[in-house]
Amino acid sequence: APTPELSKDVKLKEVSGILLQAATADSWSKIQTFEAKPDDLLICTYPKSGTTWIQEIVDMIEQNGDVEKCQRAIIQHRHPFIEWARPPQPSGVEKANTMTAPRILRTHLPTQLLPPSFWEKNCKFLYVARNAKDCMVSYYHFQRMSQVLPDPGTWEEYFETFINGKVSWGSWFDHVKGWWKIRDKHQILFIFYEDIKRDPKHEIQKVMQFMGKNLDEAVLDKIVQETSFEKMKENPMTNRSTVPKSVMDQSISPFMRKGTVGDWKNHFTVAQNERFDEIYREKMKGTSIRFSMEL
Ligand code: A3P
Repeated sequence: APTPELSKDVKLKEVSGILLQAATADSWSKIQTFEAKPDDLLICTYPKSGTTWIQEIVDMIEQNGDVEKCQRAIIQHRHPFIEWARPPQPSGVEKANTMTAPRILRTHLPTQLLPPSFWEKNCKFLYVARNAKDCMVSYYHFQRMSQVLPDPGTWEEYFETFINGKVSWGSWFDHVKGWWKIRDKHQILFIFYEDIKRDPKHEIQKVMQFMGKNLDEAVLDKIVQETSFEKMKENPMTNRSTVPKSVMDQSISPFMRKGTVGDWKNHFTVAQNERFDEIYREKMKGTSIRFSMEL
């Protein structure tokens, strides 16, 4: 008889009320005591908010638009993922520790879980936010194909899971509100996925200035082209095609899935949308952050 498909039974673990991957929770003290350096740049996002996109943009800026240099390694290896742990492979902290300064690192952690050293060393933070509805849709499809995150269940089930923040890295609402609230108290550049989509050159220019770089118009135009969804979907260094099927099964849903603003309209029912808007108003009361839900 054929071997039945192994159904994935991935359990997350809580750290201070936030669900994280078990291996991350298990190495929490090593993550918390991570030593930042003053010239670190930390890319911060809630999952599925365009992390890979901004990483490629940042690397292209750092390499002065040199495509070959950006091909030196897959994107996951270029910027250590601070809270990432998957023994026996080297952890994000270990990779960062062996990297020469100035370092570019990345995280999905909410502000309250960030290793304190980042604040103490007054590092630069680049936060990218994406509207909640598109984030939810993207995360749903990601959890369907990821073999290291829990099965999302049906879309109806996932709707509740996401709203209640019962996903890895916690609540979208709290994450975004937390980073937004402190944006003027630290060296934080806070940008939006929707704005990069609408006017990539303008946003890339902001990132460039934040990084203290100065590139020609022609280089900026090249970065815009090279970091388009279409290019990054074909690029083996960014599209996760080298990740084994046992980690990501892209036959279920590709990592570079759609890359658009407003795909939520193809997923939310009218009733779900009304309910979401109501919950959104409640949870986002008192914050001045505003998102584009379509372009
Ligand atoms: P979709 O699932 O909506 O397509 P992350 O890197 O944080 O995991 O985010 C993944 C999301 O960013 C996916 O969204 C992916 O398609 C999108 N993305 C990746 N590269 C992009 C690009 N160059 N332009 C627009 N969206 C991109």
